[in-house]
Amino acid sequence: MQKFVYEYATKVYFGAGAVKEHLTQAVSGYGQNVMLAYGGGSVKKNGIYDQVKKILEDAGKKVTDFSGIMSNPTYAKVQEGASLAKKENIDFILAVGGGSVIDCCKIVAAQAKTEEDLWEMEMTEHKFPTEVLPMGAIVTASGTGAEMNGGAVITNEEKVIKAGMAAAAPRFAILDPEYTMSVPKMQVISGAFDTLSHAMETYFGNSDQDNVSDDVALSIMRNTVTNMRRLLKNINDVQARGNLMWDSAMAENGILKVGRVTDFQAHQMEHQLGAYTDCNHGQGLAVIHPAYYRHIVKDAEEKFQRFGKEVFGVDTAQAGVEALADFIKECGLPTKMGELKSKVEITPEILRSVADTCNVIKCNPRELSRDEIYDLLMECM
Ligand code: NZQ
Ligand code: ZN
Repeated sequence: MQKFVYEYATKVYFGAGAVKEHLTQAVSGYGQNVMLAYGGGSVKKNGIYDQVKKILEDAGKKVTDFSGIMSNPTYAKVQEGASLAKKENIDFILAVGGGSVIDCCKIVAAQAKTEEDLWEMEMTEHKFPTEVLPMGAIVTASGTGAEMNGGAVITNEEKVIKAGMAAAAPRFAILDPEYTMSVPKMQVISGAFDTLSHAMETYFGNSDQDNVSDDVALSIMRNTVTNMRRLLKNINDVQARGNLMWDSAMAENGILKVGRVTDFQAHQMEHQLGAYTDCNHGQGLAVIHPAYYRHIVKDAEEKFQRFGKEVFGVDTAQAGVEALADFIKECGLPTKMGELKSKVEITPEILRSVADTCNVIKCNPRELSRDEIYDLLMECM
């Protein structure tokens, strides 16, 4: 294990009825002006918005809506939220949604406290926000684990870069599996695949032998696959949705990452693919992962063999990679670039740009050249 400091910032309330039971108390320590942030309207259709708003108003809060946060949230949307937060003297931000809403709010929380351009500050000057508005999250779609960490993934449309930014970690996260019941099947499965990817990307980074994080990551992978299969049989299985909700949080709350290095090369490729195409995050990962792993399987053969055996019950490293590819098909996830919903046609030129602009991870099983990244992306055509 490498040395580390670990502090847990987010208080978690998990289970059916958790919003009703805990929200009033959870927001009680913050000021009166609350920003209620949400996405494109699912929370209005399923009644979550009304329920949350009433609890806030009954608690004496003045509620300001910040709506229309899109999937793959943009930096422009962050600026809109930050201006609103300043104008309304917001004391606390409550994000109600999936990873996109939560990520957008994390950066709004930081941008609302500074006149500096946060993107330039972080990406060019490598300075990170020290003061943020407090925020909390109510998760309505699981998969990213965004509710339990201080990072956010934002698309800068002008620069055509989708990148991770450092931001405010939620003070609390409320996870009620019932709140996810209206999430459409393909989104549920795509989100769960993102969870699987987080555990894989952590596991395949170099680590000391017999590192506990490898063992926990493999358990999360196994449990995620088991519960995804339950949902493939019965999408309304609330217990499976709850299991996946906690797998999601566990995979990205940082506990797996302490004392080790991680890979996350598939994520770096997918994020830039998202910058060019606005594709769904979990689905982009589903397309990229098998091709990427076919390229690096020989560089971490022992690890891939253990992965194959413990997650899919197969014997060899190569069989592990192919079992993953078969599982992606079994889930009905996209397997080729052309199956992704994209705002533009995905061409070799776009994949060249993705390969030329994505981050290259230095410490994974093997550092890839940009040409090899391009080649493997082309193998997904
Ligand atoms: O916008 P609305 O109308 O709410 O619809 C959303 C959206 O269309 C819908 N939805 C959410 N809750 C629902 C619901 N529909 C019905 N009933 C409900 N209860 O689901 C759709 C997808 O939501 P979104 O938040 O975009 O999905 P997800 O949670 O997968 O988040 C994806 C974003 O998170 C980033 C991704 O890159 C992407 O931008 N990530 C964030 C991470 C982090 N902060 O730790 C890590 C990840 O690796 C990832 O990069
Ligand atoms: Zn992810």
